[in-house]
Amino acid sequence: MPLSALEFACRMPKAELHLHIEGTLEPDLAFRLARRNGITLPYADEKALHAAKNFTDLQSFLDLYYACADVLRSEEDFADLMSAYLERAHADHVVHAEIFFDPQTHTARGIPFGTVVRGLTEGMRRGRDLGVSSRLILCFLRHLGEADAWATLAEAEPYLDQIDGFGLDSSERGHPPAKFARVFARVRAFGKPVVAHAGEEGPPAYIVEALDVLNARRIDHGVRAVEDPAVLARLVRERVPLTVCPLSNVRLCVFPNMTAHSLPRLLDAGALVTINSDDPAYFGGYMNDNIRAVQDAFKWDRATWAQIARNSFAASWAGAGDRARWERDLEAVVAM
Ligand code: ADE
Ligand code: ZN
Repeated sequence: MPLSALEFACRMPKAELHLHIEGTLEPDLAFRLARRNGITLPYADEKALHAAKNFTDLQSFLDLYYACADVLRSEEDFADLMSAYLERAHADHVVHAEIFFDPQTHTARGIPFGTVVRGLTEGMRRGRDLGVSSRLILCFLRHLGEADAWATLAEAEPYLDQIDGFGLDSSERGHPPAKFARVFARVRAFGKPVVAHAGEEGPPAYIVEALDVLNARRIDHGVRAVEDPAVLARLVRERVPLTVCPLSNVRLCVFPNMTAHSLPRLLDAGALVTINSDDPAYFGGYMNDNIRAVQDAFKWDRATWAQIARNSFAASWAGAGDRARWERDLEAVVAM
């Protein structure tokens, strides 16, 4: 019996390109780290924390996400967070992950930048032992000002060999990409690739700004591109990858339910779509949970899922040799 489309999609090797490491903090780890660091979380237990994950929009999620990050204090905490994510990703046949971190969330609490990066890179080293390769992307928080981003970039400079790219996240509405035009020009001068969250809650015009002003190589989310045919046509023409996060979009009320998601319209238009989990501890699951939710709604065939995996490799920053190897591994699963 050949694998069903769902079995195939769960089993196929794939890359995850939109994942906030702080968004992988599961309640059990949050309470364990709180105990380890002598911190009292404002929730009685894991169940109470879980119950707080009832979001109405992006901001309602970010408020909880930033509050929980307070338990992350030491290098070991960041390493444990990273290795826990990579173990879960490995179980879902993720072979490569390009991972966001939000240094400002930590440095604002007095945690040194180096503690964060050293811990995360130690976790990535443990992930390599499992066979999962990874890259690190520093995200600037767009609700903060340009001066804050400049200060963060200065702190990042000694660690540039461990930072593979730069992104832009946090509250989108009212914070257009152009706010950070000069910071990203400097980032590009360092030779680092740029990505940006755009068209999640913000309008399609923010996608255009991310491309034209920041020179973003990928758009994180981009799901509102369907509201402007010219923007969608451009994304298709220029083969700009979209890192779509289906469960996130439903949990943050970007779409009322999965069947209303713009994914089929993006795919039909020919956009280079990838599937990702964004903040899996907050939105109901990791890579294969997203795949199950999408499959439940859209019943894609195996060829469509294989294309999603190929897109994830094509959109990644991995070397040609690694990508060719994963493509071959994918073909082996296609033959199952
Ligand atoms: N930070 C973590 N998750 C995010 C999201 N979905 N959008 C913007 N900023 C984020
Ligand atoms: Zn995100």
